[in-house]
Amino acid sequence: MYKPAEDTFFLEDALKFYKGKCALEIGIGSGYLTHGLCKNYNLVVGTDISFNSLLFAKSNYLKNDNNVFLVCTDLAFPLQNKFDLIISNPPYLPQGSVQFEDNTVHGGAKGIEVSLKLIKNCLPLLNRTGKLLIVRSNLSDLRRMDQMMQELSINKRVVARKRLFFEELEILELSKK
Ligand SMILES: C[S@@+](CC[C@H](N)C(=O)[O-])C[C@H]1O[C@@H](n2cnc3c(N)ncnc32)[C@H](O)[C@@H]1O
Repeated sequence: MYKPAEDTFFLEDALKFYKGKCALEIGIGSGYLTHGLCKNYNLVVGTDISFNSLLFAKSNYLKNDNNVFLVCTDLAFPLQNKFDLIISNPPYLPQGSVQFEDNTVHGGAKGIEVSLKLIKNCLPLLNRTGKLLIVRSNLSDLRRMDQMMQELSINKRVVARKRLFFEELEILELSKK
């Protein structure tokens, strides 16, 4: 299970600028950010591919939240609701030549494959004015990611940047054109 870390708190800081009724977090890990959403949205859905993460979240950060629904799934594929806000701090490090795969941090060969799949899956779940916030790192292939988003005709805005010891993180705000 992914414990709240620097990237978690970075995304948390950006959330205060958004409001709405329904929110979704993809890849909730410990449930730390989902708990924050529960305080500000009427209905919150959280997904994770790891059942153990959902169990941890349910009995820790989310134990007193009664407006949250948790789904163990790949991204948000079974969902059909519409959301005002979707957030994700997805696995974004490139797998590169590393032999083992840790799906809490490795986002595919170039670090962007999971994020691109997530974006394609989630954009149709946004309300007309809904926003998708996603964390990304300059250790992944950002040029290719930008190119793919341009082809998908997505509105894109960098809402925050943060330099860490070994990488630079960005939060992208994406919406439908
Ligand atoms: C970097 S951690 C972030 C956890 C938490 N949101 C946070 O910010 O602390 C990424 C999370 O995404 C989950 N994950 C990875 N691939 C996924 C997928 N295809 N569908 C849903 N969740 C996934 C991992 O299990 C992990 O909990």
